[in-house]
Amino acid sequence: MQYSKIVGIGHHVPERVVTNDELSTMMDTNNEWIIERTGIEERRWIDPAKDTVANMAAKASRMAFERAGVTAEDIDFIVFATITSDYYFPGSGVLLQRELGLESIPAMDIKNACSGFIYALSTADQFIRTGMYKNVLVIGAEIQSTALDLTTRGRGTAVIFGDGAGAAVLQPSDELGILSTHLHSDGRFAEELYVKDPGSSRPHEERQPEQILDTSGFKVYMNGNLVFKHAVVRFMEVINEALTANNMSKEDIDLLIPHQANLRISNYIQQKMQLGDDKVYNNIMRYGNTTAGSIPIAMSEAFDEGKIKPGDTVCMAAFGSGFTWASALLKW
Ligand code: COA
Repeated sequence: MQYSKIVGIGHHVPERVVTNDELSTMMDTNNEWIIERTGIEERRWIDPAKDTVANMAAKASRMAFERAGVTAEDIDFIVFATITSDYYFPGSGVLLQRELGLESIPAMDIKNACSGFIYALSTADQFIRTGMYKNVLVIGAEIQSTALDLTTRGRGTAVIFGDGAGAAVLQPSDELGILSTHLHSDGRFAEELYVKDPGSSRPHEERQPEQILDTSGFKVYMNGNLVFKHAVVRFMEVINEALTANNMSKEDIDLLIPHQANLRISNYIQQKMQLGDDKVYNNIMRYGNTTAGSIPIAMSEAFDEGKIKPGDTVCMAAFGSGFTWASALLKW
């Protein structure tokens, strides 16, 4: 049986570090509240003069290429997960293709928020298993800082999100690789975590820039309590779904990489599953929630730190806007 395998993983985060104390100069918040409720100590924000979603993704890709022992020219398909593409359209996949100096290979964009990287990984996995592509570049990259309401009104979301990019190269393998992926959504909750504008369902007259007096629709809205309650249930469900599908139990997991939504959510899952500290990887303290970027950034750092070794069973799980949620189980 043909599997697909992650043969290289990389990441890039912007240089600018934004501490909780810096945020407290912009809005009514403080370091203690943020750390207690979210675990976040600092996050990275882009410099709009030089950083884009696509060029951060290109930097992450080059790290992944080096680790995979491939060059950009080997890539035959790009799957790009982001909800913050550089333009309203086209998506950032083609911009990354251009940045990497590639021509004519397909580039697909996936807009499934925090579950985006696992959706993208699953998509790449299907194309490799059927033999259609042999070197697939899977991206999760996001610039959240430019859509945050940096006033006290927006403090419930502004303190959580950050910018960054991760990349993985997938190749076919006769050995075990990605064992299974599990994807879900429930659109009844679409407006509980969303950015409304620039939405195409606005009447034409309201879409004229000079008519847009209320710009709040361009900022992230999140019903934090509701998101939290659904997240803890869905994370557990979808991790168990992956384990059951592979006749495995939690003892088989060498490393769980949860989407970095909130340290309290990760800690809840860890405690429910009774996993040791060495079995769950968290880096939300340094980067906040980077949406589609969070899992590949965490995976790349875990790899750097020697926490993922050949043969390890790695589980990833995510929950986010949509609502969407997903998991993947793989042998490294
Ligand atoms: N600084 C200080 N106080 C803040 C604050 C901030 N940044 N944000 C909110 N508060 C205040 C609220 O106004 C509220 O005050 P009140 O009691 O006087 O009304 C109080 O803190 C509690 O707010 P609440 O929203 O109930 O806090 P919470 O414990 O639910 O934490 C989140 C808020 C957003 C951290 C939490 O709901 C969460 O993490 N949700 C899930 C988020 C998530 O995972 N999102 C991404 C999904 S991918």
